[in-house]
Amino acid sequence: MASETRAWQITRRGPIPKTIKLSDNVTVHPPKAGEIQVKITYASLNPVDTKLAAVAPSFLQKLPRAPGSDFAGVVTAVGEGEQPVWAKAGTRVYGQITASNAVKTNLGSLQELVTIPTKYAQPTPEELDDEHAAGLSLVGLTALVLATPVKAGDRVLIVGGSTSVGLLLADMVRDKGASFVVATASGSKCDFVKKRGIDDVVDYRQVDAGGELALRYKDAPFDYALDCVGEHSVHLQCPKFLKFNAPYLCIGASSLSANTGLLSPELRSLIAWQLRAMVLPSFLGGIPRKFKQTGLDDSRMEEFGQLVTRLVKEDKLHPVVDRTFKFEEAVEAYEYLVAGRALGKVNVKVAA
Ligand SMILES: NC(=O)c1ccc[n+]([C@@H]2O[C@H](COP(=O)([O-])OP(=O)(O)OC[C@H]3O[C@@H](n4cnc5c(N)ncnc54)[C@H](OP(=O)(O)O)[C@@H]3O)[C@@H](O)[C@H]2O)c1
Repeated sequence: MASETRAWQITRRGPIPKTIKLSDNVTVHPPKAGEIQVKITYASLNPVDTKLAAVAPSFLQKLPRAPGSDFAGVVTAVGEGEQPVWAKAGTRVYGQITASNAVKTNLGSLQELVTIPTKYAQPTPEELDDEHAAGLSLVGLTALVLATPVKAGDRVLIVGGSTSVGLLLADMVRDKGASFVVATASGSKCDFVKKRGIDDVVDYRQVDAGGELALRYKDAPFDYALDCVGEHSVHLQCPKFLKFNAPYLCIGASSLSANTGLLSPELRSLIAWQLRAMVLPSFLGGIPRKFKQTGLDDSRMEEFGQLVTRLVKEDKLHPVVDRTFKFEEAVEAYEYLVAGRALGKVNVKVAA
């Protein structure tokens, strides 16, 4: 039988802080084969929530719908058919409502009860509380894609070491045996990331990060540059500190916000940079390194879950929560997130 739940709802296309309202009676269907129902304890916010809500046309969004992708909670019901052994009522889980599910259905993580495909959840390791598990999935699956090619002994540059993706990425590349890891960050966040095992940090607000990296590392270049920000100026200078033909993998597009228009200078400059990065040969001004714009891979959720469980047990993965807001404060939580200065995840406590 269908249930009713309390949920935040995106009511129209636009940047989320301006478009959500609280509703008491949103319908949640019972789990079908291959699905579980979860009582959400914490939702965790991501920049993409608000970019998607602002950019995707209304007819693609099935409005009204709940915002938010990442969550932690407890399984309350399990659909029929083949299910993993952990999928039982009472199991603590974390996971995500994928972007495609969010726009096809009206589901999001800012609601008390949700029904999702079991494959997008994983059991929470007993050492991890729900508050820290809630924000793992989206940024962790993204970090996993960036960390995948790194091998033992590699020298790695993380652009955006204080981003939520960058914080988990540093833990992952260390686990893979990277021999030397450098990050960009700013102010007191430099000390924070250094204490988490980064060998050297460049304060990108004090110096031109690309120029500084060239000064420090022209004679000891990196095997990989992993960009969690989409930092044009660092990429354009990377031949000075990244080995010839080495990969520059990028997941970020931080210069774009939910308010970025289709004809805005930010979007035009992003497109010009990406064309130069991916298409132009070096004699026409292209960058002679292997640039790739990439993103998370939802199909790796089970592999990710196993990695998280192992790293947490070995005390090698340390998720960071910047701040947790009350359920009624979701608007303030999104305003805080879009300001772009958080150090770690911005959460909303959904239920006890
Ligand atoms: N492609 C994908 O699948 C995918 C998946 C996840 C995220 N993303 C994108 O990746 C980016 C990061 O996401 P996130 O959730 O990790 O972000 P986040 O946690 O919200 O990032 C906030 C942090 O970024 C730092 N930062 C901002 N600009 C920077 C710069 N130019 N250089 C270095 N650090 C900078 C800020 O520090 P300061 O105080 O120093 O500014 C702040 O600590 C976003 O653009 C997001 O949309 C893409």
